[in-house]
Amino acid sequence: GLRKKEVNVLCLGLDNSGKTTIINQLKPSNTQAQEIVPTIGFNIEKFKSSSLSFTVFDMSGQSRYRNLWEHYYKESHAIIFVIDSGDKLRMVVAKEELDTLLKHEDIRSKKMPVLFFANKMDLRDAMSSVRVSQMLSLENIKDKPWHICASDAIKGEGLQEGLDWLQGKCV
Ligand code: GTP
Ligand code: MG
Repeated sequence: GLRKKEVNVLCLGLDNSGKTTIINQLKPSNTQAQEIVPTIGFNIEKFKSSSLSFTVFDMSGQSRYRNLWEHYYKESHAIIFVIDSGDKLRMVVAKEELDTLLKHEDIRSKKMPVLFFANKMDLRDAMSSVRVSQMLSLENIKDKPWHICASDAIKGEGLQEGLDWLQGKCV
């Protein structure tokens, strides 16, 4: 049969933003983990969409592991960047990490799509995706296609919309 195109996705964002929960929801249900624990270093996960075969590097967001991120920039074709919409205090830290990422020499010159999940939209004091994109100054990203989706990774809401967008940019 027809081989699906292989796409390497780097999943980044601060610790506790919901990266592993999101990736777990995108996996086939028979391979989903029952319990999500903070990621140590990183995990590699695979799942398929209708036309693509994704290999996701689910990185730890803890500050002591963030120096690992850059080692995977060269081989990645797309980025999923996850934000905890309820974590107003650390929004500036998320912005710092995003700015550092976008300035990196292995990312700067690439036209790779960046999908943002404004996650934890279920929290009562969650910021809207519009507010999150303002806080992160996403309108300044001119050289890469990007998209932001509000998501609730526990219920699985908003994830498919994001993945559909990403798939459209990768085929
Ligand atoms: P690191 O691996 O440490 O970088 O964290 P992570 O970004 O992978 O976060 P993880 O998926 O481990 O989720 C952190 C916590 O947030 C867990 O307790 C999740 O259950 C919770 N969580 C994830 N997504 C949501 C969401 O959409 N809403 C709510 N309320 N909680 C969420
Ligand atoms: Mg994790």
